[in-house]
Amino acid sequence: MLKQLFKDSFYIGTMLNDDQVLGDDPNAMRIINEHFNSITAENVMKWDFIHPEQDTYQFQPADRFIALGQKHHLFLVGHTLVWHAQTPDWVFRDKSENFVTRETLLQNMQDHIFTVVGRYKGKVNGWDVVNEAVDDHGQMRKSQWWKILGEDYIQKAFEYAHQADPDAKLYYNDYSLYFPEKRDKVVQLIRNLKSDGVRVDGIGLQGHWGLDYPEKLDEIEDSIIAFSELGVEVMITELDVNVLPLPDKYVGADVSFKFEWQKEYDPYPEHLSNSLQKKLADRYADLFDLFYRHRNKISRVTIWGIHDGQSWLNHWPIEGRTNYPLLFDRAYQPKPAMDAIAKLIEESNAL
Ligand code: G3I
Repeated sequence: MLKQLFKDSFYIGTMLNDDQVLGDDPNAMRIINEHFNSITAENVMKWDFIHPEQDTYQFQPADRFIALGQKHHLFLVGHTLVWHAQTPDWVFRDKSENFVTRETLLQNMQDHIFTVVGRYKGKVNGWDVVNEAVDDHGQMRKSQWWKILGEDYIQKAFEYAHQADPDAKLYYNDYSLYFPEKRDKVVQLIRNLKSDGVRVDGIGLQGHWGLDYPEKLDEIEDSIIAFSELGVEVMITELDVNVLPLPDKYVGADVSFKFEWQKEYDPYPEHLSNSLQKKLADRYADLFDLFYRHRNKISRVTIWGIHDGQSWLNHWPIEGRTNYPLLFDRAYQPKPAMDAIAKLIEESNAL
């Protein structure tokens, strides 16, 4: 039982896809009840899903997600308010297709945050307020948010979220945060926000990692320490371990990357060999060893999905591959990685 193993350390969370939110996956619910004490919705709270048109909100799936979390007393994470992806065009362009003004865009942002965060005030425990604002070279990502508003869009998003629910925890969430330039930029951003009196409670390191990358876990460790020294919570979010070859050696998680399917990139369509299964288990054990050693800094570890069949890594960056990145297999059975994690923690506690 994962949540028992980590009960004195950090929340252990998982993600629910759209079917799971709608209650169409009882096997997944059984696993959540047994192992997890926090949930994040994969898609139903993203802007294009929950607020597709200016005057149209689609709340029912998110309402179901919240009700489920409340019923099972889970720590609820709202994902995500301001992101470069999955944001409809109307947010940035007027009816004549021209870019909106700074004032209009801020108004759109405020309306969205006030409405969504306001609706779930006191229910969602923590929000991913800004997602992926920094590029892999440590520069501000040239998103529409940044192009129209400049760097202070981040501050605005946090301020609106805080006004909408003063008790909710507010997070910055990004991938490849073990890259030194990216880590440094995020440190600088959060330090500036805090010195301006803006409330930021935590930084989520999206754990979209692989069997062999990052090459050294010290790179992740350095970021855990650097972020913790800012006086914020550190979270490992969106954890999965890619076992497939990387096209173009791209190790990030930018949803816009796409490559053509080729057999060499989809080498295990039937099953994962025992030796790779063991490598995956060892990798998970090494990662959890790191998290456990830093449990005084880490408040939550969230896995990006329950079972291999639902992972986004079967569709990205190449559609139609068979990947094995999670802790349960396609038949909802625990993989050797589960035993490896349990053994590691039991042995650490016995020392
Ligand atoms: O909702 C439409 C549906 O109407 C349409 O029929 C279907 C056809 O392709 O697409 C559906 O939307 C898809 C959506 O998932 C819901 O299934 C999008 O195309 C697809 O791009 C989207 O992918 C999600 C991706 O974020 C982009 O939002 C993945 O499920 C989700 O796992 C992934 O998660 C992100 C985190 O939110 C942020 N960090 C990176 C991470 C991985 O990319």
